[in-house]
Amino acid sequence: MMEFSNSDIDRLVEAAISVRARAWAPYSGFAVGAAVLDADGCVHVGCNVENASYGLSVCAERHAIAAAIAAGARVFGAVAVATDSSPPASPCGACRQVLAEFGDFPIILVNLAGERRITSVGELLPSAFGAESLMKG
Ligand code: THU
Repeated sequence: MMEFSNSDIDRLVEAAISVRARAWAPYSGFAVGAAVLDADGCVHVGCNVENASYGLSVCAERHAIAAAIAAGARVFGAVAVATDSSPPASPCGACRQVLAEFGDFPIILVNLAGERRITSVGELLPSAFGAESLMKG
């Protein structure tokens, strides 16, 4: 696992809370912000973007990962997800699978009240399907 400091985590959490305010969630009213810390210490953010054709809505975590990949990042150290739920909400199944594509790293779930739960990709999606599964076919 990648090494990072408490200040990296604070920076990541702040970025997730701040981008949450930019969510486009007129249908659910449920705003989500996500921030990904890469191996160079850079933070990449994403928010949920809903659509009138509901099924086209995209989650914050997948947007953050896509932004990170588009910026050239390949190795991730941690992800923060910000909602206004108590306890803080955890990523949906599709986002867990997308996060698992890039390994097992900590996920910090936070809310606006300051609650934090630290979990990990491996804890949220044990026995994930991955590249190695394709090799065994
Ligand atoms: N949502 C996320 O952004 N991330 C998740 O992991 C779960 C759900 C969004 C999708 C939709 O815009 C809203 O939250 C309500 O489901």
